[in-house]
Amino acid sequence: MTPQKTRPAAASRGGTTPRPTRPAIAASGLRKSYADHVVLDGIDLHVPEGTIFSLLGPNGAGKTTTVQILSTLIGADAGDVRVVGHDLATEPDAVRAAIGVTGQFSAVDNLLTAEENLRLMADLRHLDRREGRRRATELLERFDLAAVATKTAATFSGGMRRRLDLAMTLVGDPRLIFLDEPTTGLDPRSRRGMWRIIRELVAGGVTIFLTTQYLEEADELADRIAVLDSGRLVAEGTADELKRMVPGGHILLRFPGAAALDAAAGMLGDTVRDDSALTLQVPGDGGARSLRALLDRLDRAGVEVDTLSVHTPDLDDVFLALTGHPTDSDTDSDTGRDTGTDTGKDTDR
Ligand SMILES: Nc1ncnc2c1ncn2[C@@H]1O[C@H](COP(=O)(O)OP(=O)(O)OP(=O)(O)O)[C@@H](O)[C@H]1O
Ligand SMILES: [Mg+2]
Repeated sequence: MTPQKTRPAAASRGGTTPRPTRPAIAASGLRKSYADHVVLDGIDLHVPEGTIFSLLGPNGAGKTTTVQILSTLIGADAGDVRVVGHDLATEPDAVRAAIGVTGQFSAVDNLLTAEENLRLMADLRHLDRREGRRRATELLERFDLAAVATKTAATFSGGMRRRLDLAMTLVGDPRLIFLDEPTTGLDPRSRRGMWRIIRELVAGGVTIFLTTQYLEEADELADRIAVLDSGRLVAEGTADELKRMVPGGHILLRFPGAAALDAAAGMLGDTVRDDSALTLQVPGDGGARSLRALLDRLDRAGVEVDTLSVHTPDLDDVFLALTGHPTDSDTDSDTGRDTGTDTGKDTDR
């Protein structure tokens, strides 16, 4: 768990009086099908302002479709959605003015320089020339791209391209940012850099809607996580809440010899025994009370324990338990993933 996650929700922009927490996104009964293929099968989402919400799911789960609907890029078949206080169906322009989208596939123009890409965004956002230049310079500095400002994006690595892509999203100063798999294909260092940027944005009051297929990323960043599987939300909560939904936590006891192992196994009943390692796995959540009771029991029976460790389930366990399959099982061939083609992701250029 990360201490960075602890922060006041819905910090007000400008740092004056704090606002009460309002929903940045409130969606109910969201549905979308392509022909007879049901992609979103009635999902509800609630994202408070100033928080990071992560939609977690494997390839083909419907993450990008959700982002496209919430960001007005495509229409839903059904559902009531309010984004930053505006009705998606009747006030799409007001929604568009307040949001930014960094898509799964890069919006960076390879033939333009970093600076030109940013200025193009400023023009699209109707900023005046001076303000556009000022904003571009500021973002190049902030995203560690000042030294390559005049290089064409075609020469950039995957990590640089991702940073530029996000910088372009920030030109319009959005209050709510959709990040569709922002770190797919990045090396661990670039991924951590992106996480740092995301945390800084939220500290400044921005709301983040993040899709990912990395359990670790959702665990690391998100205030709340929704698990999407085949168009349905199979769970929603904080990382800790999700972990608690899964059996599989256990206490591992190691004994000094076979006699102690035998005695403990006889006493404790429902355990998993490993004779060569001299260990017993006892089901349990590792709470202080249950640990003390367990050790007291062994102590009273004169059974000596060498070491004790607690295994709490991680999000991988959660996903498996909730969906019946691991996160990487559904590798759609039609999504362009891992093909190394010119999709702007998964390629470390
Ligand atoms: N325009 C479209 N026409 C037909 N089917 C589509 C269209 N867009 C998406 N789909 C299908 O909808 C399903 C969900 O796709 P989506 O891109 O939302 O998944 P995803 O969770 O973003 O996956 P990935 O992790 O691979 O990006 C997939 O089966 C996909 O093939
Ligand atoms: Mg996607």
